[in-house]
Amino acid sequence: MRALKVVTMVLSVSSLVALAVVVPAWGQGVWTAPPDAKNRQNPAKGFGNVAKAVAVNCAMCHGAGGKGDGPQAAGLPTKPADWTSEAVQKQTDGELFWKISTGRGPMPPWRHLPEKERWEIVNYIRTLKK
Ligand code: HEC
Repeated sequence: MRALKVVTMVLSVSSLVALAVVVPAWGQGVWTAPPDAKNRQNPAKGFGNVAKAVAVNCAMCHGAGGKGDGPQAAGLPTKPADWTSEAVQKQTDGELFWKISTGRGPMPPWRHLPEKERWEIVNYIRTLKK
């Protein structure tokens, strides 16, 4: 019985250690979408009324102009992406759509927004290209 307790303790301590190593690594390194997501075609034309949705849902982190300088940006462990940058603009529509839907680290997943709206957000991000 005592041995079991020790084993359980050692196990829980080592899983804590594993967590401590894994958690800070979230949101770091290159973020790549899976190939099938990358190659998806954007079915939306234009960006409808999404500028408003972006202002409400994204600007606090990504900034009003999408430069990644929203009021909440400074407090985040990972900096919000600068949508005007080459790093973002060189990605395919499918890749941006997947990232917006999936999220990572402090970037929330936006899967609950209608699919068409998420594609339109991608089109909106395109208008911010430097
Ligand atoms: C709470 C802050 C926050 C909000 C709100 C937020 N984002 Fe982000 N976003 C981030 C962070 C932080 C990253 C960088 C994540 C990473 O690299 O791990 C990011 C990354 C991204 C990227 C990926 C760019 C790249 O590096 O490849 C896109 C696209 C994006 N966000 C779009 C959006 C859209 C669209 C919205 C609103 C619907 C939104 N974000 C709302 C914090 C936020």
